[in-house]
Amino acid sequence: MSKKLQPLRGTKDLLPPEFAVHEFIIKTAKEIANLYGYEAMSTPIMEYTSVFDRTLGDTSDVINKEMYTFLSKGNDSISLRPEFTAGIMRSFISNGLYHELPLKLFTYGPIFRYSKPQQGRYRQFHQLNFEYIGAEGTYTDAEIIKLAQDILSKLEILQHTTLEINSLGCNESRSAYHKVLYEYFLSYKTSLSEDSIKRLDKNPMRILDSKDEGDKKISQGAPLISNYYTDSSKKYFDEVLKYLDLLNVKYVINPRLVRGLDYYCHTAFEYVPKSGSQSSILGGGRYDGLAKIMGGHDTKAIGFAFGIERLTLLKEYMLPKIRPTILMPITEDTLANSLVLTDKLRAENISVKLSVSSKVGKRIQKALEENAKYIIFIGEDEVNNNNFKIKDLDSKKELFVNFSELVSLLRL
Ligand code: HAM
Repeated sequence: MSKKLQPLRGTKDLLPPEFAVHEFIIKTAKEIANLYGYEAMSTPIMEYTSVFDRTLGDTSDVINKEMYTFLSKGNDSISLRPEFTAGIMRSFISNGLYHELPLKLFTYGPIFRYSKPQQGRYRQFHQLNFEYIGAEGTYTDAEIIKLAQDILSKLEILQHTTLEINSLGCNESRSAYHKVLYEYFLSYKTSLSEDSIKRLDKNPMRILDSKDEGDKKISQGAPLISNYYTDSSKKYFDEVLKYLDLLNVKYVINPRLVRGLDYYCHTAFEYVPKSGSQSSILGGGRYDGLAKIMGGHDTKAIGFAFGIERLTLLKEYMLPKIRPTILMPITEDTLANSLVLTDKLRAENISVKLSVSSKVGKRIQKALEENAKYIIFIGEDEVNNNNFKIKDLDSKKELFVNFSELVSLLRL
């Protein structure tokens, strides 16, 4: 087949059974979101590139290597969103929503990252994203993590995951940490990857997140941020953990968890699979500094996102299929009457499929394969006489009913 007829590398079609699973996951997450008072919103798939590159960190791989960026006809640099948070913050500021805080927002849709495709890693994938803007107080960190946990639990995959948590401290903690981290990596400068040498001056914490095997080894001996927390940062983290204990959320402290984007402070967390690939299923954290960096007011915020494709790697969802009712004209002459009847049934909110081409026997066979519940046969007289022949494919019984009886029967 011609290459042009294939989807682009790292993208894929979501055909009916798979797409139904996506919708099921979204619906389940929405139900939990409602319990926590989150409201749905949506932002454009494209933004000015500056929305992302000024905020997510120009040393992060997501910005440096993975953005789909192009020039518009008006010569503006535009990017497809590589995540939701920056776009939502842009929307929060540009819509002047500061006076409506706190805002609990959720959204979902496609995200684009030009990363190397592999299992569970796509160039177009789908995130469900939650942001709590105006989230003041350590209990809000615990509350949003419990929300993430409730979704994974409802989707029956919590038991396959581990919650890893860390604190990235306040600005003061991080700047003290940056200094020692810089010194540490500087002593390995000649062994670091080219990318990490660039990261060294700008943001040595990014080296901790490097995918390069050599960098990873060097990072294992790096100092830990926990030794550089200020008293208030340590207190903050302790309180978050205390609330998580209260809410029965099990976690493992991973002192090396730094996350792949630059805007985080204090609480950072990821749900990772217990076995197999270590790529996260869900990731998030606090980003109190982002609104200000983007030109808005100081606004505390925390959020998380999970990748729908990653979730479906952990569990195969078998959704019950709706059993169709088939309306079957027996001859070509009865097609018009049949079409009108399907229309009347749909007006009564009854789902019905019209089965037309091929011989009746073949169509009955197809109805059985589709696990249909009823077949309504339409011959010459059925519609005129208001007397319909309907076959129950479970009991194998045939019934003769008028239109209102037909509606009642199909409604059951
Ligand atoms: P992230 O960790 O970059 O965080 O992505 C969140 C989730 O998206 C990951 O845990 C994973 O499930 C999924 N994901 C990431 N990259 C891919 C990929 N190439 N293919 C398939 N799935 C992928 C963020 O995006 C932050 N904006 C989350 C956040 C919201 N932080 C605060 N608020």
